[in-house]
Formats: sequence, structure tokens, C-alpha cells
Amino acid sequence: MTNVFITGVRAKTGAPLARLLAGEPDVYVRGGSAQPASVDLPGVEPVRFSWDDPTSWVSAVEGVDAIFVVRPDRADAPHLIKQLISETPPHTHVVLLSELDGGYFRPGDWAPRVERAVLQSGRTWTILRPGWFSQVFADERFMLDDIRSGRLPFPSEGQRIAWIDARDIAAVAARALLDPALRARTLDITGPEALTLAETASVLAAALGRPVEYIDLPMEQALEGREGFDRENDFGAYDRIRRGMVAVVDGAVQEVLGRPGRTFAQFATDTFAGSGRL
Ligand SMILES: NC(=O)c1ccc[n+]([C@@H]2O[C@H](COP(=O)([O-])OP(=O)(O)OC[C@H]3O[C@@H](n4cnc5c(N)ncnc54)[C@H](OP(=O)(O)O)[C@@H]3O)[C@@H](O)[C@H]2O)c1
Repeated sequence: MTNVFITGVRAKTGAPLARLLAGEPDVYVRGGSAQPASVDLPGVEPVRFSWDDPTSWVSAVEGVDAIFVVRPDRADAPHLIKQLISETPPHTHVVLLSELDGGYFRPGDWAPRVERAVLQSGRTWTILRPGWFSQVFADERFMLDDIRSGRLPFPSEGQRIAWIDARDIAAVAARALLDPALRARTLDITGPEALTLAETASVLAAALGRPVEYIDLPMEQALEGREGFDRENDFGAYDRIRRGMVAVVDGAVQEVLGRPGRTFAQFATDTFAGSGRL
């Protein structure tokens, strides 16, 4: 039996990963959430876990063989992740959800420091570096409200994004957690095609059966209301898009899963077509 702990089982990646792992023979899945009562995933044991409460960590990782770390986007993440991993049994395999780099970061930047917390942990590791998730359009906390109102405001300056379906990130993560062949690998995980934001809006409109208008936001407007670490982090994410760094199509999904990643149109159809959820 392989015991796997997912730090964020309600996350866009954590939830489909938990579903996949729960369907694997000889895998026991514990799903961490600050709100474990709201976790409803058959075959998954909800566990109270909060980055803000280190007293919740010891029991969460007790007896694990592998752990999926959904990186918390906060300034102290390198320290938090280092501390959490130090609570795991020495044989634990760590899979970190990081992000596509594209040569943008310097070694002292936050994202490489988070990765180093894993690389220097003394545990075996796999680093996943996905591009932008298709599921940001289905997330109440991100772009769903905009899509509901028929708008797609985004600071892309005409550049493209190779949208990756979170279900494919989850499928790669499941293999990385269970297959020793993927140890000590850093995998760029992208979708199979790069779309402009205007094309993205058209695909969403087709799935919804009503118009979605793309609005190219100035960077300042996109960052309105954001401060400190969040502002810097968002600036970097949009800046990488504007430099074409997330338009890259990588072969890791095909390599690991033996099939291409889902297209953005597939995501849009599965999520919105005929669902009436909007
Ligand atoms: N989004 C992207 O396009 C993208 C691209 C590349 C990399 N990343 C990286 O991926 C990481 C985030 O992964 P993710 O997008 O899978 O996580 P996510 O969906 O943002 O969820 C992270 C956590 O937010 C909490 N949460 C609060 N309210 C929630 C709600 N209504 N529904 C679901 N969860 C809720 C959950 O923790 P509790 O259950 O404890 O509340 C959950 O585990 C970040 O490090 C980010 O930088 C994201």
C-alpha cells in the first residue's frame, strides 16, 4: 500500500489528482484542507491541514510514502515547505506543483527558492512546472465571473498561452507520485497548442453558445488592488505571458501519459457546453 498525502485536495489540481489516485489499486489517499468537512471525494480521507497551523502537519504526513505539495503562493512558502517536508518520513517522495519558468527567474527569486526547499530536503523529488491552467475560467476565485458577464479581460498584449488542463497536470502528478522512473525530473507541463486570448475567448463563446469579448487590459489595470507579494507574483505571471514564455508547447504530457494533453476546446466543452452552470 502506498500512502499519499495531498496538501491541497480542494485545489484545481489536487481534486482531480485525488480522484485518480483513489481509483488506483494499493493506494491510500489523504486529502489536506483547512476545511476538511467540505471535502467530498469518494475513497479519499479528508485531513485537516493548514499552512497557517503547523500543529496540523505532523498527523497529516504521518506514515506517508509520497506527498503532493500544492505550492502556497505566499512569501514564506520556501520556509513552510522546508518545514513540512522535514516532518515526513525520510523515504517520502515529494512532488511539487511549481510553475513554468521559461528562463525568467533568477536563482534568488521566490519560485526557485521554493523549488530548492524540495531539492535540498533529502527526499526524492519530482518538480512539475505547469503553464496556465484552463480551469482558471471555471474558478469562482479567478475568471468565472468575467466569463459569466461575457468578458475576458486579460493583459496579454497579443501573446499566446498553451493552456494546460488541470486534469492532465493531475494525471502527470499521479504518475510522478507512483512511478520511480519520474524521480529527479523537472517537467514542463503545457497544453498541446498555444492560443491568443482572442482565440481563447472564441473557444469559450462556442462552448457557451454566447459571445465572450476579449479585452486587452493594461498591466496597471490588471494589477489594481494587488499589493506586496501578490502584486509582484501577478506581475511576473503576466510579464512572462507578454514575453511569450507561456506560449511554449512541451512534450512532457505526451511522454508521461502516452497521449497528447487535452485541448482548450475540450476543456471548454467538458466544462460549459450544455451544463447550464453559468
Ligand atoms: N492557476 C494557474 O494557471 C497556475 C499556473 C501555474 C502554476 N500555478 C500554481 O499552482 C498553485 C495553485 O494550484 P491550484 O490552482 O491547483 O490551487 P487552487 O485551486 O488555487 O487551490 C489552492 C487552495 O485554495 C484553497 N481554497 C480556498 N477557497 C477555495 C475554493 N472555493 N475552492 C477550492 N479551493 C479553495 C484550498 O485550500 P483549503 O482547502 O485548505 O481551503 C486549495 O487547496 C500555485 O502555486 C500557483 O502559482 C497555477
